[in-house]
Amino acid sequence: MYSDLKDKVVIVTGGSSGLGKAMAIRFGKEQANVVVNYHSNQEEAMAVQEEIEKAGGKAIIIKGDVTREEDVISLIQTAVEKFGRVEVMINNAGIENPVPSHELSLDNWNKVLDTNLTGAFLGSREALKYFVENNIKGNIINMSSVHEVIPWPLFVHYAASKGGIKSMTETLALEYAPRGIRVNNVAPGAIDTPINAEKFEDPEQKEDVESLIPMGYIGHPEQVAAAAVWLASSESSYVTGTTLFVDGGMTKYPSFQAGRG
Ligand code: BGC
Repeated sequence: MYSDLKDKVVIVTGGSSGLGKAMAIRFGKEQANVVVNYHSNQEEAMAVQEEIEKAGGKAIIIKGDVTREEDVISLIQTAVEKFGRVEVMINNAGIENPVPSHELSLDNWNKVLDTNLTGAFLGSREALKYFVENNIKGNIINMSSVHEVIPWPLFVHYAASKGGIKSMTETLALEYAPRGIRVNNVAPGAIDTPINAEKFEDPEQKEDVESLIPMGYIGHPEQVAAAAVWLASSESSYVTGTTLFVDGGMTKYPSFQAGRG
């Protein structure tokens, strides 16, 4: 528990499932006021709201598409109207799909870049505008991926979006550090979430992914949420512009394990 997160207002985009859900619930356990943004599944969002309230936090749900500028603007505005303030913005909403790069349609490329990168930009920009205008030493956490550094064939749009997030986060961190605003990335590896459910239900595919993880197992959403609350808390007060990998060692060249090479 991080006592300074109590009553903090935290927005989580894509908060109705997967990593967003785990983070939203963890902030609820920290007694924060959580704004759960969701794209389409209201029932899932309401279930997350209920869990946050059961855990002792407060929550509201707000429907919105992070690729739509007006939705992101109103997300922050509504959060401020309901809770009086915003201190933490978590740009988590993301999508992915595999396609050989020479067959990737522009539409698919744009959808992934719009959601993963432009969505995180809009969330960051609106949060920054609000922090600057109100003189708040706010905190932005962008959900990146091990693929901000690991190339990923068939997922060129996804890898490009995460590489973009790395660069965006570092740039914003530098630009806003003098105001005490911190901007960081959490970069998960292979985590047990709905986005990966199909892949990990197949034992062969699951084993194949596990072989890429030095710690030997697929991570849990709660392990990612634990990194997010630390970055949002004052325990990480001197940390900005960095990426916190939560990947069981996946980015550490597992093929070189046991002295190969
Ligand atoms: C993706 C997962 C993938 C993992 C490791 C994540 O960013 O969302 O689908 O398993 O990276 O490759």
